[in-house]
Amino acid sequence: MLEDKKITSVLFVCLGNICRSPTAEGVFAKKAMEQGLRVKIDSAGTAGFHEGAAPDKRSQQAANAKGYDLSKLECRRVVERDFQDFDLIIAMDDSNMRDLLKKCPEELQDKVRLFLTFVDTEFSEVPDPYYGGKRGFELVLDLIEKASDGLISYIKAT
Ligand code: 4NP
Repeated sequence: MLEDKKITSVLFVCLGNICRSPTAEGVFAKKAMEQGLRVKIDSAGTAGFHEGAAPDKRSQQAANAKGYDLSKLECRRVVERDFQDFDLIIAMDDSNMRDLLKKCPEELQDKVRLFLTFVDTEFSEVPDPYYGGKRGFELVLDLIEKASDGLISYIKAT
């Protein structure tokens, strides 16, 4: 069972890997470092249409405003090996979750979790901000900061 194993690696996943999951990677990496938690962290997208690109400028701006730097991150797609290589695979929304479970081998499916299950909030998903305005990107950042705190507490308890 996953609960018996110490978590040492986390992969954050959204659709495009240019808005939500790189934000989660950057926020979680900074918080983990500040709290002395050593974990391998990466992010990826279920779709490949932005491979090689830096995070969306609007995500970078929302992150910069709260002291996070996403500028060095590069978009990639989820690959088969990710399900072996990471202890936790964190989906931003239900659609990402379904896409991941379709690709994930049966015996590894309990690694795949919905991000906002690690925090008590009225939202169940981190909403896709891509076709919306600045407020949507700020909401994403806010939800990700809270869920990262919850995930860090969870990992510390493993
Ligand atoms: P993300 O947002 O999944 O949070 O990276 C999106 C990025 C790009 C697209 C959709 C969502 N797109 O359709 O290109």
